[in-house]
Amino acid sequence: MLPEQHDILWTFMTMAFTLFAGVTFANVIKHCRENEGVNTKLWGGIFGVLFLISFWETIHMFDLVQGDQINFFFQYQVLTVLVILLTWGIFLKSQNIEAQSPPLIRAFFFWSTVSVVLAGYTNWLPQQRSDPPPKPDANQDFGDITMEEYAEMGRVIVFGAAATGGNKAIGKGQCPLCHTFDMGDNIGRCPNLFGVEARSHTRIKEDRYMNEPVKVGEREPATGVTKGVPMESDEAYRREGGEEMTGEDYLRESLMCPSCYVVKDYGKDGDTKSPMPVISKPPISLTPVEVNAVIAWLQSKETPGEFATVTVPLPTSGGIPVEEPTGGDDRIFVDGSEAIGDMINILGCPLCHTIPGIEGAVGELGPKLHEKTNALDRIKDPNYKGSATNTKEYVRESILNPGAYVVFNEEAGELFPDGLMPTTFAAQLSVTAIDKLVDFISQTEAPPEG
Ligand code: HEC
Ligand code: HEC
Repeated sequence: MLPEQHDILWTFMTMAFTLFAGVTFANVIKHCRENEGVNTKLWGGIFGVLFLISFWETIHMFDLVQGDQINFFFQYQVLTVLVILLTWGIFLKSQNIEAQSPPLIRAFFFWSTVSVVLAGYTNWLPQQRSDPPPKPDANQDFGDITMEEYAEMGRVIVFGAAATGGNKAIGKGQCPLCHTFDMGDNIGRCPNLFGVEARSHTRIKEDRYMNEPVKVGEREPATGVTKGVPMESDEAYRREGGEEMTGEDYLRESLMCPSCYVVKDYGKDGDTKSPMPVISKPPISLTPVEVNAVIAWLQSKETPGEFATVTVPLPTSGGIPVEEPTGGDDRIFVDGSEAIGDMINILGCPLCHTIPGIEGAVGELGPKLHEKTNALDRIKDPNYKGSATNTKEYVRESILNPGAYVVFNEEAGELFPDGLMPTTFAAQLSVTAIDKLVDFISQTEAPPEG
């Protein structure tokens, strides 16, 4: 119902009630005339005043906004009409007037009762419907969320809401920038997470887990996490009663302390350092509830519809700080209005690249971006098959079509993995944004030695 309709409704009701007061007044006067010995002045005066009150209420109704109209109607107008009816009854009884109210008036009374009920009802109904859904706040109550819904929340954090089975969209967690999830699907430098649930239980029994790169019970220097001792991990993320290391704890540790255990051949510096970002820290910054949702999804993704392998607890509002689950349908997109640093962080380039001039961009999965010097060398390389003729064209090509030229990794003595850099940036950048990004990346150079 539209607000205007409310106004019309209440204005109409109030006018009808005043009309009723008028009719009663006329009716009383009529009886006074017909019957001897009735105090016309008294009764006429009483009903006259009631009529005037009613009339004034109608006028007042026009000055009120809709919400106040309703209150006013039920608090004063209805009361006035009840008083009129009561007084009228007293009048008829006390003066021994046999003829009860004429049928017209009884019909009117019946009709107005029905109207009041209806009006109250129609008014109450849309208000219920238009109430905005309660905004999730810091004490958001997850109510009766099921494990299926919780695991789905995890899937959305990984792939974003826009993604459907198989396609490689990216959610808040940014995992698909690096990882693959289906059997046999490999893109080089990051382990395929197929079967990671089963692996999580065996990993913790490996000698390698016990001793490398840090020993169980020792602190991992970069994060300060005590490896393999869930009880000593960050309280907000910790599992309750975490005495012994479980598969769930391994997955959580993988996300919160990637360098606690480095999958063989996927690390840096002789597998002592993981290139994976700490998921609970910027730029990804998953909350405890989100980390657990991702774990729930990892634990159940290979058994669709079956959640027996999931051990994380369902979220509640108590104890852990809870935030609005994010990752919604905001498929990452930049329009160029962002500051260059924000733009690069939103797109996730720092997860893989070290970029001079961008704080915290120390990723090591791709080449250091020193394009002011490197781009022209790439174009001159006899292996170069792309179509760029200058620095900006090369940078643009590298971003929109990374496979056009695969950079050689001098340190490792082999090519950087082809296909690791996402090929989705064309769809994530506006024309302005790509120009801005190309301008910036084209002038990156190695910081002066020293
Ligand atoms: C910048 C690339 C990158 C991103 C982004 C990333 N990872 Fe990783 N991840 C890696 C690399 C490299 C390894 C292997 C080295 C190691 O063990 O830390 C790894 C290891 C793992 C492991 C351990 C696998 C095993 O077999 O034991 C898990 C689990 C994992 N990642 C989950 C995730 C999840 C979930 C996300 C998203 C929330 C994510 N990763 C985001 C690069 C990444
Ligand atoms: C998941 C990791 C990953 C992400 C995220 C990523 N890249 Fe890359 N990038 C690579 C890898 C690996 C290479 C080298 C292989 C190749 O050339 O395709 C590369 C190559 C490049 C090159 C060519 C470098 C040179 O010296 O020739 C440029 C430029 C580049 N990336 C820019 C970007 C920008 C800008 C972003 C963000 C919009 C980005 N990359 C995001 C992994 C990544």
